[in-house]
Amino acid sequence: MKDFTVDNLTDEVVEAYTAHAQSPRLKHLFTALIRHLHAFARDVELTEAEWFDAIMFLTATGQKCNDQRQEFILLSDTLGLSMLVDALNHPKGGAGTESTVLGPFFVDGAPAQPYGADLRRRELAAAEPCLVLGKVTDEHGNPIAGATIDVWQTAANGFYDVQDTSAPEWNLRAQLSSNAGGEYAFVTEKPVSYPVPTDGPVGRMLAALDRHPNRAAHLHFIVSASGFETVITHIFTPDCPYLSEDAVFGVKQSLIADFKKISDTARAAALGVNDPFWEVDWDFVLARPPGQAHRAP
Ligand code: BEZ
Ligand code: FE
Repeated sequence: MKDFTVDNLTDEVVEAYTAHAQSPRLKHLFTALIRHLHAFARDVELTEAEWFDAIMFLTATGQKCNDQRQEFILLSDTLGLSMLVDALNHPKGGAGTESTVLGPFFVDGAPAQPYGADLRRRELAAAEPCLVLGKVTDEHGNPIAGATIDVWQTAANGFYDVQDTSAPEWNLRAQLSSNAGGEYAFVTEKPVSYPVPTDGPVGRMLAALDRHPNRAAHLHFIVSASGFETVITHIFTPDCPYLSEDAVFGVKQSLIADFKKISDTARAAALGVNDPFWEVDWDFVLARPPGQAHRAP
């Protein structure tokens, strides 16, 4: 039995956690976790008051979570950890559409909608109509029929339906399928930039550090098809001032789309939108899982 000190405690804790653990991966994770956590406390000479504040912050983060709100995802996103994990798991240079953060506002089970559906369940005066259309293909450009496309976004007031008690359920959310030619299309609002939720502990953290909470304007997608890797991604508008300072570090050059402003009364009438409207043509490319043979067409 020996007394623990600042110098020997870390090794003792690592030994206690790894001596009997069976899983090599857990041993590896906990050795690194304990060493990095202890090194942080040593580096900053963490005070008891600061550590207590941090515990209260993490407690409040958990207490803010419910079926519709995930404050821990928001914390991971705003600290850049979600994008680091994304970059580690989806290195650049792959054939498929690049991924980015899921964010805390995905809701499973959005209603299935047909090709060309209008996802607007109410019209806000500030909203600009937008037609989104394109294809889902494999890395050789072959269309993928029957791909599932989950889409969700904020309304022109900057809120997701689940944040806004005045919004109809499933406003600007849907699950679409690509048709026999791999094509999909839907009508929505041109996305706007908006602040991540600031009414919780993460908002207080950003304010304490004088950091803005704004996300670059985007649409969210999860695209999946049998035999392909699922991609969680966005498309960004090119004209948003937050592209280079997104609050969650989620912008990738390859995900910035060309939104065209169209003035065409006949097409607008056929789509059921006001003229002018926006149009973005965007193809998703799904990659095969690693190790699976890539067959040329
Ligand atoms: C979002 O885009 O919905 C989002 C992403 C990360 C944090 C908060 C919101
Ligand atoms: Fe979002």
